[in-house]
Amino acid sequence: MAYLEWQEKLNTGIDVIDGQHQRIVSYINQLHKVCHTQGDNTSKVTNTIIELVDYTISHFAFEEALLQEAGYSKMKEHSKNHIEFSNKIFDYKDRSAKGEDVAQSLLDLLHDWLFGHILNEDALYVPTVSRYFVRNHKN
Ligand SMILES: [Fe+2]
Repeated sequence: MAYLEWQEKLNTGIDVIDGQHQRIVSYINQLHKVCHTQGDNTSKVTNTIIELVDYTISHFAFEEALLQEAGYSKMKEHSKNHIEFSNKIFDYKDRSAKGEDVAQSLLDLLHDWLFGHILNEDALYVPTVSRYFVRNHKN
């Protein structure tokens, strides 16, 4: 069984966003897997952390650009949330690059944060973005 299982309730109905969220989950599962692989896995763990953190941060940038375009009214709060979380995971990436063993603690953080963010914060922009897509014949 995967470390984090995707659940139906996590789908926002916005395909491009759901695809990116699922990819983050698969990076998290990949990190969990390499952490529990026997032998010297240090460089694999570091590389997976780099990919996971970079992808998550680029997803935030994509999401914010979309929210801006769609005219989402709580844009500032949402982006503040992303910035705070980006700073945290960027710090993990830094520490990992310096040789610190941060993988489990990063997994715990992502495990606790991601689904909550999707279900509580992301869910709030769904009506605005869905209306924007209908208006512009996207999705
Ligand atoms: Fe978000």
